[in-house]
Amino acid sequence: LDNGLALKPTMGWLHWERFMCNTDCDRDPDNCISERLYMQMADVMVKEGWKDAGYEYVCIDDCWPSHQRDAQGRLQADPNRFPGGIKKLADYVHSKGLKLGIYADVGKKTCAGYPGSFGYYETDAQTFADWGVDLLKYDGCYLDWQLLGEGYINMSKALNKTGKSILYSCEWPLYEWPFHQPNYTAIRETCNHWRNFADVYDSWSSIKTILDWSADHQDIIVPAAGPGGWNDPDMLVIGNFGLSHDQQESQMALWAIMAAPLLMSNDLRDICPRSKELLQNKHIIAISQDPLGKQGYRTAKMDSFEVWERPLSEKRLAVAILNKQEIGGPRGYLLAAIPGWKFCNPKCSVIQILPQYKDMGVQPIQSDIMVHVNPSGTTLLTLTPTSSNTTGLHWQDM
Ligand code: DGJ
Repeated sequence: LDNGLALKPTMGWLHWERFMCNTDCDRDPDNCISERLYMQMADVMVKEGWKDAGYEYVCIDDCWPSHQRDAQGRLQADPNRFPGGIKKLADYVHSKGLKLGIYADVGKKTCAGYPGSFGYYETDAQTFADWGVDLLKYDGCYLDWQLLGEGYINMSKALNKTGKSILYSCEWPLYEWPFHQPNYTAIRETCNHWRNFADVYDSWSSIKTILDWSADHQDIIVPAAGPGGWNDPDMLVIGNFGLSHDQQESQMALWAIMAAPLLMSNDLRDICPRSKELLQNKHIIAISQDPLGKQGYRTAKMDSFEVWERPLSEKRLAVAILNKQEIGGPRGYLLAAIPGWKFCNPKCSVIQILPQYKDMGVQPIQSDIMVHVNPSGTTLLTLTPTSSNTTGLHWQDM
């Protein structure tokens, strides 16, 4: 969507995977969906280096509103859980130099059964603009799939009409895929990012399913991505309970390769130092935010290795080698077996970013050097050809 926003994949925090629809503030005040949760996340984001690392949006998901609209037909936050209201919360988040995201649904109800926007597109867009909201995540429950396109487009227009810049995060294709192949040209014109596939949950099998879906559909989805509009494979679940550290590294590396929004869903108030270091790794974030804005894709699959590559600015290439074998130890992978390696003619300078940062120096096209990849882990590299290659072709032409 050409609204000047999301020129790079969005970075921030979103409550859903970790906090879900916990509304029990009496008995579980620290984890319930309330203004306190977002205020505390915003505080930590500033204090603990998240903001400096690039994480900017603090986002509310489902279950924030009251079950009734007000007398003017406007959505209102649940008064017990958000006593100050959303406007005050937005002011607070802004005072920390961060941005606030909110959630609504194109249909008659949200997935959790709160009021939906259907019939209220302009009212809701104006309400969010009046509150100073910076991002809208727009879900697709409770609407006939044939009306999805119209609904998502109408909300996009309504947001534009408010005159305020509001980043528009859609789930249009996710709800359309079961019925027919979505029109990604229309989706890109309408949204700043869009969910294609099922919700992420806190397990390696969920991450694997998302990667498989993305690779299987890369011919359709990759061309749609670029500055202003991105495919959204859903939240980062790094720092929770279900992924080993190697699996967390795989999610981080592959989300960067896919030019995915980096929206963490975890508890930043209580996160293990290694997960924090990974999420704040500046080399991986630089790949995610690379100014060329090209989404990466899977280039090889064999012996339970997968190779994913993303062309970067300044003629560099990011390469993620994923070891999907969940038995044994680290396995060697030859640099020369990376499909993009053929452009390292006569040489490439090689930097390893994961599992640990290491300058591997300049390697010739005939290199027989191996990198090692842990089980369900990822070795992440960048390659830079040392001089122009003889074919005149580059990976950006792939
Ligand atoms: C479905 C979405 O895909 C999730 O990300 C989350 O927003 C839930 N709905 C909330 O009900």
